Amino acid sequence: MATDATTYQWVKDGALGAGKMRYGADYNPEQWPREVWAEDVRLMREAGVNIVSLGIFSWALLEPREGEWDFDWLDDIIDLLHENGIDVDLATATASPPAWLTTKHPEVLPVTADGTILSPGGRQHWRPTSPIFREYALRLVRQLATRYADHPALVAWHIGNELGCHNLYDFSDDAARAFRIWLQEHYTSLDALNDVWGTAFWSQHYSEWDEILPPRVAAAQRNPGQQLDFQRFSSDAQRDHLRAEAAVLAELTPGVPRTTNFMVAQNIRDIDYPSWTGDVDFVSNDHYLRPGPRGRDDLSFWANLTGNIAEGRPWLLMEHATSAVNWREINPPKRPGELMRDALTHVAHGADGVCYFQWRQSRAGGERYHSGMVPHAGADSRVFRDVVALGAELQAIAPMTGAHREKARVAIAFDYISWWVSGRDSHPTELLRYDEEALSWYFALLDLGIRADVVPVDASFDDYDVVIAPMLHVVTDDLRGRLEQIVADGRHLITTYFSGTVDEYDRVWLGGYPGALRELVGLTVEEFVPLLAPEKLASGASATNWSERIIRLGDDVEVLDTYASGDLAGEPAVTRRRVGAGSATYVSADLGVEGVTGVLRSLSDIDALRGDERTAGGKLEIITRAGDGIRYEFFANRTDEVVTLTPTGARFGTDAGAPGATIEIQPREVVIVAEPAA
Ligand code: GLA
Repeated sequence: MATDATTYQWVKDGALGAGKMRYGADYNPEQWPREVWAEDVRLMREAGVNIVSLGIFSWALLEPREGEWDFDWLDDIIDLLHENGIDVDLATATASPPAWLTTKHPEVLPVTADGTILSPGGRQHWRPTSPIFREYALRLVRQLATRYADHPALVAWHIGNELGCHNLYDFSDDAARAFRIWLQEHYTSLDALNDVWGTAFWSQHYSEWDEILPPRVAAAQRNPGQQLDFQRFSSDAQRDHLRAEAAVLAELTPGVPRTTNFMVAQNIRDIDYPSWTGDVDFVSNDHYLRPGPRGRDDLSFWANLTGNIAEGRPWLLMEHATSAVNWREINPPKRPGELMRDALTHVAHGADGVCYFQWRQSRAGGERYHSGMVPHAGADSRVFRDVVALGAELQAIAPMTGAHREKARVAIAFDYISWWVSGRDSHPTELLRYDEEALSWYFALLDLGIRADVVPVDASFDDYDVVIAPMLHVVTDDLRGRLEQIVADGRHLITTYFSGTVDEYDRVWLGGYPGALRELVGLTVEEFVPLLAPEKLASGASATNWSERIIRLGDDVEVLDTYASGDLAGEPAVTRRRVGAGSATYVSADLGVEGVTGVLRSLSDIDALRGDERTAGGKLEIITRAGDGIRYEFFANRTDEVVTLTPTGARFGTDAGAPGATIEIQPREVVIVAEPAA
């Protein structure tokens, strides 16, 4: 999965030495008069902050006119932080180009699919493929790296910021040129490209590479192969920018680890992060709590996936929010206990550092209503008191840094490419949601008290007794072989509707659905049956959005559930093919969390699908990290009730207790229990 030669290297030890849990925030001192800086460092010390990400949006102040540099203020704040024992994750400051640059070179501005040029005035208004932007950006990186190479406060580099958050899809002429080069590298000939894109359809044949464009707004549905390759290219173009900045830093500051903040989260679909793991020394992630009853479980899912994108090694939670964000339609503050709960849930999934956006809530600008560690109300506030309490907790649990997350027996295979392609236009319905399907399985597993890993689809499945592959739409020959191996080994695969349908070019596998998986699951589907209204299954489950008319291919395929209403009444809805000790289960409809919970219950002969009794019927999520001969078990209370637990180990952290003592886990609380590893 890892792409390049970069080897894992954690944040440097810095002022406080090794074995610290990192704690901090994006710090934007340029938004405040200098008097505030003194108070900032005082409060940071009070909170136990030991790292800040600095300079993320500072380009316009660092280079106020072309080639005119002003580092004095940055020197001063880095020195002040260092004097106070606070280390710096220094940004390369390229996230938002200054006004002089876009005034002089409007040709760096991104262009949307309909030809609109995006104006400056927001942020990230640059084309990832612009040679002009790249030159200016790398010059800035070189200046910063040269100036701060030996500063003792510098413990990591923060490349760009959330690469691709706003400028992932650029349809400019620069993009067109770079796209053609990307295509030439991927396809040996135009004939190969014409073949896999199916350009015989609608007279889309290309005779010259220069005829190929990004999939701009067109008169009718755009070519799916072209769309998919443009998605791959756009994700890779951001990674190229990351590599270009990283190369300058590697040259000038080889001993300083480099990272960039990924956005492994439900609202960011289009970056293939597992292919970026090898391009950073350690993985960082940004995650913002989804409001509503499943928000905590959603957080757990993406933290879990981040831990596996990091290949089990510690990662840094670079950004989350102390309380409300300001960019959803409605932005409620966090409920009591949630600040601590969210931070510790990320730690449970392998984060060795917890940072926020941002240190001090802005007074002006587009994010003034976004929470910070120091809110508008000041330090005498609930949020800041919680921030101080979290700082103390992180220091108390610091001995666990470096501990690896223990693998579960069940995996959910997560595939960014299937996420992209299954949500394409020109499909049988527009209502399918890959992310929601994957989340439904995770939520159901949590509800049943079953621990699962969310793993990138290219990671090894070898250690898992059960692999769940929800809506695994894109299946290559290689992937099919890996899935077949699971069942051949006597292990278990569960997959769902619209899986196995297309190859890596979004071309349909012929002979009936689910195409590549037809023989493995032992059935075929001649036509999809998207639903206009929900239908019932015999078990009582509801099918929404989607159903399929299943034809079983052999007697070894059992029917676990049938459709009970609509045109498919009496037909199989959920099947299971047994192969020796292994099995392949197929779920042909969108059953939601309740429905898939029922499916999992019906598979309870599989040992790994029996819930852990200590979860108190799924009220707790249990996650384990282990290192240095100690196992740390995290018990996260998913409910608003008190849950009682009598573990064999001892409570660990600021509230440390004795081994075997009964613990009352408060609503939304995360309790850590430590005991020697067996
Ligand atoms: C992103 C950005 C931050 C800030 C936060 C607000 O994660 O990286 O600069 O805008 O969102 O949630």
